[in-house]
Amino acid sequence: MSLRASFWAFREAAAGRMRGFLTILLCLAGIASAQEAGTGSDNGFTVARADQDAYSQPAPALSYRESETFLQGRSHFKRRWVASVAFNGEWGLGPTFIQTRCSECHINNGRGGPPQAPNEQLATMLVRLSLPGANEHGGPLPDPNYGDQFQNRALQGESVDFQYSWEPVPAEAALYLDWEERSVTLPDGEEISLRRPVLRIEKLAFGPMGEGAMTSLRNTPPLIGLGLLEAVPAQREAANPVVRRGGEMFRQAACGGCHVPELKTAETYPAFPKLANRSFRAYTDLLVHDMGDELADGRPDFKAGPRDWRTAPLWGVGLSGTVNGQSALLHDGRARDVTEAILWHGGEATASRDAFSKLPKADREALARFVEAI
Ligand code: HEC
Ligand code: HEC
Repeated sequence: MSLRASFWAFREAAAGRMRGFLTILLCLAGIASAQEAGTGSDNGFTVARADQDAYSQPAPALSYRESETFLQGRSHFKRRWVASVAFNGEWGLGPTFIQTRCSECHINNGRGGPPQAPNEQLATMLVRLSLPGANEHGGPLPDPNYGDQFQNRALQGESVDFQYSWEPVPAEAALYLDWEERSVTLPDGEEISLRRPVLRIEKLAFGPMGEGAMTSLRNTPPLIGLGLLEAVPAQREAANPVVRRGGEMFRQAACGGCHVPELKTAETYPAFPKLANRSFRAYTDLLVHDMGDELADGRPDFKAGPRDWRTAPLWGVGLSGTVNGQSALLHDGRARDVTEAILWHGGEATASRDAFSKLPKADREALARFVEAI
C-alpha cells in the first residue's frame, strides 16, 4: 500500500465513523421541517427568538425523550474531533481535515462566510472537486489524489500521522479567494456592485489535480428546521407596512414560483406523528433549478447539471448576521445582501429578477425587508 493509499484507508475509516454519526442525525433530519402557517404563531416548532441563539433552540413540541436526543446530538455537534484517543474528543481526526468540529463551520448553527482578506484561507467554506465522468453510483468522480473535497488543514505531525511517515503530513492545498467585481445598472439608474469569487489553489501537496478537474466552492448553510430538530425562528414584523408591501412585491415578482411560501408534510408520519399533516413555511420548493450561467460552477453533481441549484429556503435568513456575524448568501457566499442575491438570479429565475430590477427603489427595499423578516 502506498503512503498516500494508506492515508486514504485511514481517512475512509474515519469517514465511516463520521457517516454512522451523520446517519443518526440525518434520520432525525427528515422529521423536523415544520412551521405553522401565519406569522409568529408558535405551534411547537417555531420560537420567538431573534438573538444569536435563534437557530439553536430545540423545537418546543419535543417530548422529554426527544429533547434528550436533541441534546445528545447537539453535544456531538459541538464536540471536537481529535487525533488520538482522548476523553475530551471524538477519535478519528486527520491526518488531513478542514475543521475539528461541526460547529466550527456551522457556528451557532448559522452560515459560514468567505475569508476577509486575500491571504486568509477558507475556514467556514469548502471546495468540492471531481473529474469528468461519474462514479459507480452516477455521482461525481473523485480526483485520484485529492478525493472529492479539499482538506486544507493537517495534523502537521501533531500525532497519528507519524504512524505513516517520519515526515509530518501536509495539508492537501492552501485555498484562497480573489474577487471579480463588476457593477450592474438598474433601470432607474441605481448602480449596484456585485462580486464573484475566484478560487485560488496553492501548495498542492500530493501532485497535480487530475485531467479536467472541476471545483465547486460551497458556503456553509444555516441549519434550522432539520438535522438537530432545531426550531425555526418565527417570522417577524408581519404588521409593519413596509414588510407588507414587500410581501406584495414578492408575489408580484413571482418569487414564490420557487420560494413556495408554504408546503405540507405527509398525511401520516409514523416516525414522528406530531409532524404529520402540518403546514410549514420554508419558502422553498425543495427542487433544483437552472439558475443560468452566472451562478454556474460548471460541475455536475449526480443528475444536477452545472447550472442547477436547490432553491434556498428563506426562513430565518434575516437573522443570519445576528446569529454569528455572517450573512453571505448563495451557494458560494458571493452575495452580501438580499438585493445582490436576487440580482445574481438567472436561468429560470430571469423574469423574476427583471421584475425586481424594474421596481421603484422603495419597493425593492420593501421586498428585501420582507425577505429578511421571513
Ligand atoms: C468545513 C466546514 C463544515 C463542517 C466542519 C461541517 N459542515 Fe455541514 N455543511 C458545510 C457546507 C459547505 C454545506 C453545504 C454543502 C453543499 O452545498 O453541498 C454543509 C451542509 C450541511 C447539511 C445540509 C444542510 C441543508 O440545508 O441541506 C447538514 C445537515 C450539515 N452540513 C451538518 C453537519 C454536521 C452534522 C457536521 C459535523 C459532523 C458538519 N455539517 C460539519 C460545511 C461544513
Ligand atoms: C426559478 C426559481 C427561483 C425564483 C423564481 C427565485 N429564486 Fe431565489 N433562489 C433560487 C435558487 C435555486 C437559489 C439558490 C441559488 C444558489 O445557491 O446559488 C435562490 C436563492 C435565493 C436567495 C439566497 C438565499 C440564501 O440562503 O443564500 C434569496 C435571498 C432569494 N433567492 C430571493 C429571491 C427573491 C426575492 C425572488 C423574487 C425576486 C427569487 N429569489 C426568485 C431560485 C429562485
